[in-house]
Amino acid sequence: MPEPVLSIKNIEAGYTPSLPILRGVSLDVFEGEIVTILGPNGAGKSTLIKAIAGLVKISSGTVSLEGRDITGLATHELIRERVAYVPQSENVFARLSVEENLALGTLHNPTQHASQRRRVLDLFPDLEHLGHLAAGKLSGGQRQMVAVGRALMAAPKLLMVDEPSAGLSPKLAQVVFAQLVQVKQTGVTILMVEQNARAALQISDRGYVMAEGQEKVHGAAASLLENPEVGALYLGAKSRMARS
Ligand SMILES: Nc1ncnc2c1ncn2[C@@H]1O[C@H](COP(=O)(O)OP(=O)(O)O)[C@@H](O)[C@H]1O
Ligand SMILES: [Mg+2]
Repeated sequence: MPEPVLSIKNIEAGYTPSLPILRGVSLDVFEGEIVTILGPNGAGKSTLIKAIAGLVKISSGTVSLEGRDITGLATHELIRERVAYVPQSENVFARLSVEENLALGTLHNPTQHASQRRRVLDLFPDLEHLGHLAAGKLSGGQRQMVAVGRALMAAPKLLMVDEPSAGLSPKLAQVVFAQLVQVKQTGVTILMVEQNARAALQISDRGYVMAEGQEKVHGAAASLLENPEVGALYLGAKSRMARS
């Protein structure tokens, strides 16, 4: 078994010391995978990726990146470790142009701006002609592309994305998922949180199902898709799993 890109061991974390939200979560992400974290609202999915991203305090357990301990590193330190995080909402600077949003992704490393910009625009050609527009003027799907594009400007090896399809029509959600597959094909490993279980698992290698701050089930995406217990118990409404 190769060493995971990201390895989380038994982490406990929360917003206040008296109320732990994550109660001993472990998870591995291997190079080149798309791994999706599923589970009902309030399960702790966002808290988990915020804890990895240095935005929620970890009280015990470890986060390692390619074997190095990165537990508790701040978000800007993680960028140097080539870990990027796209929050679920407010993930673009609405008043800044698309180009300015992208440029923020290489603020820590401006000499890389031109080459990374080219890479991101090759991946998302639609951003090129939107470049001068304020990000706040864009559609939800376009904004998501800007948010992911900005994260990719930092040339991450691990991209973490919280509910990239939230608020999008099923059709646009498919577009965003197809874009994440393209991102994976450029060699970026992806850890994603999603409510849209079936569509997310269809592009994932593996999935983890969380409930009440713990990991309940994990496995190959195909096996989770076929597991009726998983569908009924942990993926929210059954209709989410229904074929559309
Ligand atoms: N900023 C916050 N301060 C305090 N509690 C929070 C905060 N954000 C989320 N929580 C609580 O943490 C729990 C898990 O939330 P979250 O990780 O957002 O769940 P999910 O992303 O799975 O829907 C919930 O009980 C939620 O109320
Ligand atoms: Mg969430």
